[in-house]
Amino acid sequence: MMETKPACPENEIMCHCSGTKRDHIQSLFEQGMDIHAISRWTGALSGCGGCEWDIADYLKELVAQRAGGSNNSK
Ligand code: FES
Repeated sequence: MMETKPACPENEIMCHCSGTKRDHIQSLFEQGMDIHAISRWTGALSGCGGCEWDIADYLKELVAQRAGGSNNSK
């Protein structure tokens, strides 16, 4: 039996300082914002900075998804 748990819940908070959630970052990305614009817009990355790599990785993932369609290599 396999439990199907989403590895990346959409409502996961990615930046705890600003309370910015994953789905919010995704929707801003889809509006054409880059990491700097998202940071200014949400306050993410402007606190402790501990979320920087998580968010950068996530945006890279989104860029790759957009480039490769629905290709899921995981
Ligand atoms: S967790 Fe994002 S700035 Fe602290």
